[in-house]
Amino acid sequence: MLVNLLENESALEVLERAVVLRNQGRPIINLGVGQPDTHTPPHICAAAIRAIEEGKHGYTPPLGLPELRELVANYANERFGADVKTQQVIVTPGAKPAIAWGILICGGDGTEIIYPDPGFPIYASMARASGARAVPLSLSAKNEFSMTAEELLPLLTKSTRLLIVNSPHNPTGSIMKASHWQGIAELLKNYPKVTVLSDEIYSDFIFDDKIRHSSILSVPSLQNRAILVQGWSKSFAMTGWRLGWSLWPQHLVSQVFSLAVNVYSCPSSIVQYAGIAALTGSREPIDVMRKNFARRAKLISDAFNAIEGVSCIEPRGAFYVYPDLSGRGLLGEEVQNRWLSEIDVAVVAGIGFGATGKHSIRLSCAASDKEISEALRRINEWFQKNP
Ligand SMILES: Cc1ncc(COP(=O)(O)O)c(C=O)c1O
Repeated sequence: MLVNLLENESALEVLERAVVLRNQGRPIINLGVGQPDTHTPPHICAAAIRAIEEGKHGYTPPLGLPELRELVANYANERFGADVKTQQVIVTPGAKPAIAWGILICGGDGTEIIYPDPGFPIYASMARASGARAVPLSLSAKNEFSMTAEELLPLLTKSTRLLIVNSPHNPTGSIMKASHWQGIAELLKNYPKVTVLSDEIYSDFIFDDKIRHSSILSVPSLQNRAILVQGWSKSFAMTGWRLGWSLWPQHLVSQVFSLAVNVYSCPSSIVQYAGIAALTGSREPIDVMRKNFARRAKLISDAFNAIEGVSCIEPRGAFYVYPDLSGRGLLGEEVQNRWLSEIDVAVVAGIGFGATGKHSIRLSCAASDKEISEALRRINEWFQKNP
């Protein structure tokens, strides 16, 4: 592994800078960070406290507590109508390790990994560090940033070993429909060596009540080559707890087992008990968050679309808005830095999500309505002063 090729995650960098400025007394509104603005629901916290009190703090099996793995398998099968076995479920400290393991196992010298651009920056960073050639698939506003088979076709080669898909999508809020998956599945029939890593960490946040999340698991021909990445971080407001789950083709599980044993031994035992409480408890907190994100995403995208020279696809899920400022001749990086220093609003430059994002910025909806309205007021004023 080529550790010197690993890159930082710009959203975390912006978060750090925003926290420093806020601690200096500046009225920073943070629309940079990718985490829910609510507390972890009380029944989940109570389960963690109970686990500590009951002394459940020893090592667990490297791939997670058997009862939690079984629960995840049932959960996935019920939600997606799949037929996943408990042995295919892997619990990790956050979802990120599952992404890293998928890339390291499938990548390496002489291989190619296709990833969405714009996209979660870790995909390209880890792909390069694995020794693979990282091949960006440019998502276009014309397709509302969904990945299509037509865009994928010219990028597939005999060296392609992994395709990364993310829906709902960070940073654009796009979603994959069943028809998109079908097209990709059809194409991949000619490429049997390609594994598909489907990052579905935002699947609980689809804004339209009438639309169901379209999972890779719902495509039968992809099931035996799918790595599905999910977790507790976003759905249950548990980003700092570090707990993720993923589903793997059976033949890859032993490699993940070895990586887990060598790197972290097991996910935190206490946090796994909290994870059980989350999956078995009420889903109402998720629904409250989802509705909040939907309302705020519309508020932000409408506000940007009303600004001359700015355009913005209305997000369908996740909790981000991704305006394009090219009509104003602005670079996202300049806007990120100037808004932080001039109007105390933290956003993330699109370039942090790939080369296609040069003129874009990402704003997070995970802030209160009041904060968002005040940020939009400052942003509007800034555009008026900087025609
Ligand atoms: C698309 C995507 N995948 C994975 C993750 C990482 O999740 P976790 O915090 O559980 O490692 C994030 C976090 O921002 C994300 O945006």
